[in-house]
Amino acid sequence: MEKIIDENKQGESLYIEAKDGNTKKLFIESYGCQMNFSDSEIVASILTKNGFNTTQNLEDADLVLVNTCSIRDKAEQTVRKRLEKYNAIKKINPKMKVGVLGCMAERLKNKFLEEEKIVDLVVGPDAYKDLPNLIAEVEEGRNAVNVILSKEETYGDISPVRLDSNGVTAFVSITRGCDNMCTFCVVPFTRGRERSRDPQSIIEEVNDLWQKGYKEVTLLGQNVDSYLWYGGGLKKDFNKATEMQKATAVNFANLLEMCALAQPKMRFRFSTSNPQDMTLDVIETMAKYINICKYIHLPVQSGSNRILKAMNRQHTREEYFELIDNIKRIIPDCAISQDMITGFPTETEDDHQDTLSLMEYVKYDFGFMFAYSERPGTLAERKLEDDIPTDVKKRRLNDIIQLQQKHGLLRTQQHVGEIEEVLIEKESKKSNAHWAGRNTYNTVVVFPKEQYNIGDFVNVKITDCTSATLIGEAVGYSDNN
Ligand code: SAH
Ligand code: F3S
Repeated sequence: MEKIIDENKQGESLYIEAKDGNTKKLFIESYGCQMNFSDSEIVASILTKNGFNTTQNLEDADLVLVNTCSIRDKAEQTVRKRLEKYNAIKKINPKMKVGVLGCMAERLKNKFLEEEKIVDLVVGPDAYKDLPNLIAEVEEGRNAVNVILSKEETYGDISPVRLDSNGVTAFVSITRGCDNMCTFCVVPFTRGRERSRDPQSIIEEVNDLWQKGYKEVTLLGQNVDSYLWYGGGLKKDFNKATEMQKATAVNFANLLEMCALAQPKMRFRFSTSNPQDMTLDVIETMAKYINICKYIHLPVQSGSNRILKAMNRQHTREEYFELIDNIKRIIPDCAISQDMITGFPTETEDDHQDTLSLMEYVKYDFGFMFAYSERPGTLAERKLEDDIPTDVKKRRLNDIIQLQQKHGLLRTQQHVGEIEEVLIEKESKKSNAHWAGRNTYNTVVVFPKEQYNIGDFVNVKITDCTSATLIGEAVGYSDNN
């Protein structure tokens, strides 16, 4: 997803108001991508209907659920450390049960119960509806595991409870799974095959969020541009659909348009776009509706054609440039961000230079950069030796981070002097006299609070910047209020 939460950070614990009649206490926290945070809201919704209220206090919990990430080894180590903490608490509160959700649950399955004695419950990303049954098993003293991946499950019929929410921005998932099989990536194994959610249920969720006062929705999927609804089922089975189903299918550009029209004052973002699946009609739809934000997260991973091929990314460097050119032609001020991996097996200094020169061409607004981490079961792990020494991976990572910071600053400087619409999300972390929000380009903007409130759309004159943040002063409400 767009922003990988720092793996060293403690996961965010999630909390909603108590529902009368529920007696058991659930502590739920999430690591990893935005999809995990969104999934935890689905889980909380299921469990509040089954006797649980959420608590922010780990010591009080009857059930602790941790939604886990497998994307890099470090992400898994962070979760294992967290389990040690639960262990210490279980000594004080022996009745507390511990469940592992998400990608690590799917990857390790029963092995989790052997490796981590603290764990009572292991539930994969497609099995959350089975949680009440599994918890009943655990309460009777048995361990419970469900890691079955599904062809159909999209949780489209579950209305997520918004956890730890600012009441202004929300995530709505539109696809699950991924069919791309990038050779470094564990996601296709942990989240299964790609399937899309019924657009009707997406629009209903969007409308409901608007009713509740939300002002911005991010549509989530591993590969949103590949969204395709033809009545249900896997994306790969679309060729088996009837002529009628094919004729009435809804693609991502259609879905974006449906959202933009359903709530014309709501802002829409989406994440993540895969270059090989992003089509011109998506960019044109973005250009057509003012409420679709001018920002695309477009991971490329490497600038070298040889490495792109070894990664099974289905495009070349030249095709990526063509896409960037098209975006800039249709939406000249569109912000673009990247994900990059340094030190993929066999990466040479020349390949690394290709990555740097690709970055020079695009001059990304933001970036999320990682050193390659070999993941068990992936094609890269089975076929390629993890042959780039850690210090080389780190040095190359440092090179691209430095370059990204330079480009980030170059991009933020372009905003200075402009008046931009900002949606206020929260108080600035650094000052309680300032608000923080984002402009359409997804850049954080900080400015003095004055008479404005969280959830207001405000025009802000940008006066200064760092490489990641804009600083300004409000000049009035925007027309969007
Ligand atoms: N399509 C997904 C990608 C999820 S993974 C999305 O919605 O964003 C997010 C990023 O993690 C990837 O783009 C990649 O840059 C990085 N990543 C994935 N597997 C990795 C690995 N084995 N080692 C290092 N980084 C990895
Ligand atoms: Fe992973 Fe590639 Fe899909 S990075 S999530 S396999 S697009």
